Amino acid sequence: MKTSIIYHSYSGNTRSVAEKVRDACGGNLVDVKLTSDYSSLTAYTLGSYRAMKGVCDPIEQKAIDVAADDVIVIGTPVWAARATPAVNAAVAAIRGCEGKKAVIFATCGSREGDTLPMLKKALLEKGVTVTGEFVFDKKGITDPVRINAMISAIKTAGSAR
Ligand SMILES: Cc1cc2nc3c(=O)[nH]c(=O)nc-3n(C[C@H](O)[C@H](O)[C@H](O)COP(=O)(O)O)c2cc1C
Repeated sequence: MKTSIIYHSYSGNTRSVAEKVRDACGGNLVDVKLTSDYSSLTAYTLGSYRAMKGVCDPIEQKAIDVAADDVIVIGTPVWAARATPAVNAAVAAIRGCEGKKAVIFATCGSREGDTLPMLKKALLEKGVTVTGEFVFDKKGITDPVRINAMISAIKTAGSAR
């Protein structure tokens, strides 16, 4: 099974989940990085505002080619009940995704809000079918049962014809 695990992580939680997926499923980790990162102050002010508005921030990756993948995994931190502007930009940068399946996840403090429905909608507009959606709050990030449920969903999506 070929997979790209595309994620943004500001403080490490989403990265830790993405790495667990890579350890269990293999695949290519795509760490989406901003060309200019937020400070701890601007993340909560400007970053949250931009997340709420659904805008894209400039990222280092010009294009993320998933044409060779069987399944795409996309992970985002929740900012102001939305995906981060970096993940919005990553979705816009994905190439070769038409007709593919995706499993999406969000990590959050306690309230994921509209993060996954909106991410799912953006992917649908690019011809991607989301077959699994997972939210990891503070406890969930270290809960092997919840992580394993997502890993099973990714393996199922990657092996289905
Ligand atoms: C700017 C900002 C906004 C956030 N907004 C929310 C929110 O709306 N709801 C929530 O439950 N957690 C919120 N959080 C907490 C993060 O979603 C949570 O800590 C997440 O796991 C961080 O992922 P990361 O470590 O990969 O960056 C916010 C954190 C930041 C930095």
